[in-house]
Amino acid sequence: MMSKEKDPYEVAYKRERDARLHAEKLLEDKARELYLKNQQLEESFSQLKKQQAIMLNHEKLATLGTLSAGIAHEINNPLAFVSSNIESLQLYLKSYDRLYQHCKQILDKLPESAQLQLSELLKNEDLEYITDDIPELVADTNEGLKRVTEIILNLRSFARTQTSDRCSSDLVAGIESTLKLLNSELKGHVCIRKNLDPIPEITCNPNELNQVFLNLIINAKHATQEISNPTITLSTRVEGQNVIVEISDNGCGMSEELQKEVFVPFFTTKPVGKGTGMGLAIVYSIIQDHQGEILISSEENQGTTFTIKLPIDSI
Ligand SMILES: Nc1ncnc2c1ncn2[C@@H]1O[C@H](COP(=O)(O)OP(=O)(O)O)[C@@H](O)[C@H]1O
Ligand SMILES: [Mg+2]
Repeated sequence: MMSKEKDPYEVAYKRERDARLHAEKLLEDKARELYLKNQQLEESFSQLKKQQAIMLNHEKLATLGTLSAGIAHEINNPLAFVSSNIESLQLYLKSYDRLYQHCKQILDKLPESAQLQLSELLKNEDLEYITDDIPELVADTNEGLKRVTEIILNLRSFARTQTSDRCSSDLVAGIESTLKLLNSELKGHVCIRKNLDPIPEITCNPNELNQVFLNLIINAKHATQEISNPTITLSTRVEGQNVIVEISDNGCGMSEELQKEVFVPFFTTKPVGKGTGMGLAIVYSIIQDHQGEILISSEENQGTTFTIKLPIDSI
């Protein structure tokens, strides 16, 4: 009679197969676990890289702030005396002009030889042209000085990082008064929509924040200049422990590359005289000072939204 005992080979085979299946399952579990861990790691890594880019940017802007404070201070002195000298020169030039007109008047009455000499001098020195050109030169110089003064003023407010002058204030009131200030600039050019929900007062420097609103609204106006129904929408709301102010426009928008550059001091896409490129750099440094955040969401030819987040319990 055949033994009922199992074939030892079969037993061994089954045992080995079970063990292999078990090992395979274990391996698969581990592989899945590893895959998930790897994904998490990749996510953390890209998060870190983003964080690092932001930190570098903060660092760069902070360094620029310190540098520009020094430069602004250095330029301010010569700027002051150049401006005051130009004022004196303008007065002196009036005397010169009177002298020139007088010479021309008395020319006929002079003895012949003196007449010849004087008219020769006037001609050789091209004094008629010079007298004509002087007012234009002075006006251009004044315009140039005005621009430099504006840049210096901007640099100084960019570099300012004092937390003094803070008080509890209502941002909605700040937005309203900024709009009043800009009334003539905006009226008839752009439609303003307001979704200003009441928000709690926050401790801040209201003048600085009004400057933020002003810069953002002016930029929005510039961006909508070529649009058929230019609209700027201003909204406020509370989100958790923050107040949110949003300034949106339906203007030209910005490419992703552009969005990365706009907070850099002196970055501008506008022609000389229209933009100094300091507006958003100042906005950024003021929001940083207030422990806030500013974000851009923008699409080319669609429009742009700047979102400002400020902590309700800021110092
Ligand atoms: N709302 C906006 N829509 C489109 N582009 C904008 C907007 N705001 C800012 N920009 C871009 O950012 C640049 C920098 O802005 P800013 O720092 O205020 O300097 P400026 O206005 O003097 O050029 C602008 O030249 C423009 O290209
Ligand atoms: Mg600007």
